[in-house]
This record gives sequence, C-alpha cells and structure tokens, in this order.
Amino acid sequence: MTPRKILVTSALPYANGPIHLGHLVEYVQTDIWARFQRMRGHDCYYICADDAHGTPIMLRAQQEGISPQQLIDAMTIEHQADFAALDIHFDNYHSTHSDENRQLAESIYLAAKAKGHIDSRTIQQAYDEEAGMFLPDRFIRGECPKCGADDQYGDNCEACGATYETTELVNAQSVVSGATPVSKETEHLFFKVNDFKESIETYLNSGAVQKEVANKISEWFDEDLKAWDISRDEPYWGFKIPETEDKYFYVWLDAPIGYLASFKNFCAKSGIDFDEFWKPDSTAEVHHFIGKDIAYFHTLFWPALLTAADLRLPTGIYCHGFLTIDSKKMSKSRGTFIQAKSYSKHLDASPLRYYYAAKLSHSADDIDLNFADFTQRVNSDLVGKVVNIASRCAGFIKKRFNNRLTAELADPVLQQNFADKAEAIAEYYESRRYGHAIREIMGLADLANQYIDEKKPWLLAKDPDQSEATHAVCSQGINFYKIIITYLKPVIPAIATQSEVFLNTGDLNWSSVSSPLLDHQVNTFKPLIKRIESTSIDNILADNKQVAKPAKAKAVQKKKVKPLKDNENNIINFDDFAKVDLRIAKIIKAEQVEGADKLLQLTVDLGEMGERNIFAGIKSAYEPSALEGKLTIVVANLAARKMRFGLSEGMVLAAGDGNDLYLMSPDEGAKPGMKIS
Ligand code: 2FM
Ligand code: ZN
Repeated sequence: MTPRKILVTSALPYANGPIHLGHLVEYVQTDIWARFQRMRGHDCYYICADDAHGTPIMLRAQQEGISPQQLIDAMTIEHQADFAALDIHFDNYHSTHSDENRQLAESIYLAAKAKGHIDSRTIQQAYDEEAGMFLPDRFIRGECPKCGADDQYGDNCEACGATYETTELVNAQSVVSGATPVSKETEHLFFKVNDFKESIETYLNSGAVQKEVANKISEWFDEDLKAWDISRDEPYWGFKIPETEDKYFYVWLDAPIGYLASFKNFCAKSGIDFDEFWKPDSTAEVHHFIGKDIAYFHTLFWPALLTAADLRLPTGIYCHGFLTIDSKKMSKSRGTFIQAKSYSKHLDASPLRYYYAAKLSHSADDIDLNFADFTQRVNSDLVGKVVNIASRCAGFIKKRFNNRLTAELADPVLQQNFADKAEAIAEYYESRRYGHAIREIMGLADLANQYIDEKKPWLLAKDPDQSEATHAVCSQGINFYKIIITYLKPVIPAIATQSEVFLNTGDLNWSSVSSPLLDHQVNTFKPLIKRIESTSIDNILADNKQVAKPAKAKAVQKKKVKPLKDNENNIINFDDFAKVDLRIAKIIKAEQVEGADKLLQLTVDLGEMGERNIFAGIKSAYEPSALEGKLTIVVANLAARKMRFGLSEGMVLAAGDGNDLYLMSPDEGAKPGMKIS
C-alpha cells in the first residue's frame, strides 16, 4: 500500500478568548481522525494556528494596556496548553500573524488582483469620531428598530431575530467609546466571488462537502454572489494590503490562508514539500474540519480564493454541529461556557474524548453533553467494560503465570471474529461515523466480558487441576483487550499508551489486531482509568464560575512567556479588582451571635454610605468589647448575603494563617467611608 499524504486542519481559534468545551468537539473530532490515519500507516499532518488578527483582538489588547503582539503571545501559550491537556496532538501550531502568512496572503491577493478579481468601491460605514475608527457591526449596540429591544447588535436583534442595517438601529452607540456613530465614506477593496460562481457550484456538488451543507450554501446561487469586502481601514490589527497606503486585509481573508502558512512553517522544519500538497493537480489530500457556523467562508470564499491563486481545492470540508449542554445552547449566564482548563483541572482527557466520539457522526447535527449521562456512560463503558477486561485477567496472569501468556489461543475463532471487524470499524472512522465505531467496539467489549463471565477464571483459579484452563482463559481475555484498545486508540490515546506498556507491545497500529500475543511476556497491570465521581463534575462547574469571565491574558515579554499554572486560575485582572469597593469603616457595635461558633455581629459606620450590619468570622480572635471604636476595612459593594442569623451587608478584611487572625486597620487619620484605591 502506498501511504496517502494527508493534510488535516481544524478551524483556527481566535486569539482573544479561552478554549471551551464547545471548541473541543472539533479538535477532538479532528484529532481522532488524524490519529486513525496515522495508525493506518498514512502520512497525516494535523496543522493548526491561532487566528490572531482583527478588531476584537486590537481592542482587547488596548483595554488591557498591552500590545496585540503581547496578547497573542500569551493566548497561544494558553491555547496550546489547553489542547495538550485534552491529548490533541498538532504536528504544527502556528499563528496567522506570521511571516509565512503575510507572504501567502499578499501573493494570493496579488494573483487575484492581477487576474481582475479585485474591485475597489466607495462605501458608507459607521464611524466612531471619538475613537477615530470605523466600527464593525458587532461594535455598535442600540435598540432594535423592529421590536424595540434594548442593547442589540448593529446588524441583528437577539430578542426578535430581525436583521437590519446598522443605520436603522435606534439610539445607536459605539461599544468602543459610547459615542453615537456617524456615517462616513471610505474606499474598500472587494473580491469578486461571482467570477467563480460556476466552479464553486461544481465543487460544492462534487462530494467534498456534506450534502446538507452544500444544499444550504446553494441557496445563495439563485442570485449573483455578492463581492466580498476584504479590506479594513486603520486602525486595524492585521496585514497592510500591498499597493495601498492604509488598507488592511480583513481578518477572514488571511485566516484560512493561515492553514497554508502553518503548513509552510511545518514543511520548512521537516523537509516536506509544500507544493506537492498545494499544486492544482496534487494527489495529496487536504481535509478541513470546521463548525457549521463558518461553512460560508470555507465553502464559498475559500475555494474561490484558492482558485484565483491557482492552488488546489480541499479534498473535504466537514462541518460539525454545536455543543449543547443539557440540551440548551451554551450560555454565559447559566455558567455552561465551560472552559477547557476547568475541565482538565479535574478530569483526564479520555472521558471527554470518549463521550464526544460516542456522540459524533458525519452530520452537522448538534451534540449534547449531559453530565449525568457523561458520568454514567464513561463509568459503564470505559471503566466497567473495556478496562475491566484487562483488570479481570491480569491479576491471575501475574500471580499464577509470572506475567507470561499462553503459546496458543483458547478461542481462535472468536479472536478472528474480533480481528475481522478491523475494516468495518476503519470505514466508520474514515467516514467520521465515530458513534458507529464506538457501538461496534463496545459490542466486542460485551462479547469479551461474556467470554470471561462464562469461563469464570476466578473459580478455575481455585482448582489446582484447572491451572492450564485459567491460563488459557486469561491469556485469551488479554488478547481480546489488545484488539479492543487498538480500535479505541484514536479516541483514548493516553489509555492506549499505558496499555501498550502493560501489553509490552510497542506502538499498536491497525494491523496489530491480526497478531495475537502468544507466549508473550506482559508487564504488571496498573489501573488505567478511575471512575468519574460526581464531585469531579461539581468541581469543574465551580471552577468554571471563577474563570468564566473572559480571562484577560497577561502581558508577557517575548521569549519569557510561561504557560499559566493551575494555581494561577485565581488571577484576576485589574478591571475585576477595580470593581471591589473597599472602604474605611468604624466598628460601632460588636456582639456575640447566639448559636454561632465563629461569628461576631458588627455594626459599622461607613460615613456617607451609612451603617451596615456585618457578620464576621473573627470570634476566635477578638472580644467584642475590644473592637468597638476600632477602624477597619470593609468590602462595601459585596452583594448582601442572607445568613442563618440575619442579613450580612459587607465583609471586613482580616489576615490569618489558620491559627491567628488579625483585623486590617488603616493608618491614623483615616475616616469612615474613605475609599481605598
Ligand atoms: O470562527 C472562528 O473561530 C475563526 N477564528 C475560524 C477561522 S478558521 C480559518 F479560516 F482560519
Ligand atoms: Zn428585535
């Protein structure tokens, strides 16, 4: 067999936000596919990068008082750490803000321009005079012209679903400065997508794109395709367009070119021939995995751009659906935008990878994550069925047979049945029907467990005359396990790697299923997976509440950047800190609280803010009478909390080491109500 040459990509994540469980559906889906291809002996390269340009990144960096470069340097490290924790293995992870991408974007644009596919035209656009910048639709908010809902985006209303022109928005405001946007003329560059209408239509119907997606996109073909606005005015964080003074490529122009750029960067390091993959008649394959929300960019603009630049078209563009949590859209207010790092802090990659795989198909249907179902399924399938096969047999093999397997199989027919599933399961992986693959593999796990149940090695082992039978049954069980874990390796690579150590086999690949382990020494079995406890899920959700506000990247010096460590999850940014209203307070009254072990009830005077009732856990350190008249520091804007003993309307600050406790107090001269800054 000549190995296929395969380049595979996932969408490039924006460099202004953390990776969450929704993103991970795609990276897990792609990573499984790439790992499967490598196990089949193909040359498969999985490439990705951060999508590092655009207005949101520019504004976020500004807000944080750092440069966009500093922001994207910090984000790429966070992203890569998140991916690594989920066992997502990229052959290369690059950035769209790279030399390779600049060169490729320029040359693709210039090729399109030379062939007459670029137009220039003057348009009217919303402009923020205070901030001195044109405003993308998402940076304008106002009242919906249709239903009157407040605080809606510049182009569509989330309340009633209406779409409209930014100019129709009532009481429009710039999100950047709060100013009322004005309409201003500007010259923009357009890519004439319609020049490629026929070839794109042929491509869409060639089988490279799922039918459901091709049908949806084809709806645009009833009319001429509108030219695509590919330029943005200064200030903009991106690449300057060649042969212009002050125009920049729109982020979506150079984002997909980032696939090429990351691959080019990889080729330079690894000696692979870039052109062999991207020349028009290439026999290599290019597969893009994306979310259905960005199908339009990938199936219309991207093929058109590639054609304009005389580059080959992708072999496949595969859309997956969205992740819902408990059948609902992920939502910030419900706390269901669960960040990858909240998950990874409490659980290994394998459970989530397995659950996603079990739910994924070749369609663009949404998939649901329900934590009760997740826990039940992982515990039942991976712990109770798969790993159980090995653990049920390994003890006897070690104790009785010194970790040596029999020279012959006890049930060669059943073993062959297991191995015969290789092609059917491969076809399921190849066509991205992972749910089908998992069902087939779990069917084998059931058969293996039935075999062990019937043969009852735990009874055989008690009978000295059945030593041979015990050896045969357990060796057979371990051979079944080897086949099952080989089939599952693309999905749960970490467990497969540990199993390779136990089985003493070296790298398992697809053809390993037809070579049983005979007269073979295994290593001592070590537990391969832990049951998921509900506390892990509680911890993930609790942790996510802490990090749910957009984590602002820290400014980092180039080359000195360090990945964020777990205990740095508690870091808050300056904006968060500035929200805390700390005030000087005078304790007017301090009293014991009946029935409370640790609390004192304080009445404090906050000057102009009036008096407050606060329950403070400082009873162990202070006699109430010693506190009266003392000045201290209070969090004055903490939401009031209903406690068993009454309402607590703030918090006093105290330092302690678990034994001693010291109330904070200001220097002499401070007055009640003074703000601490
Ligand atoms: O939608 C997104 O998250 C984009 N950053 C995806 C870009 S994919 C490719 F075109 F770069
Ligand atoms: Zn509306």
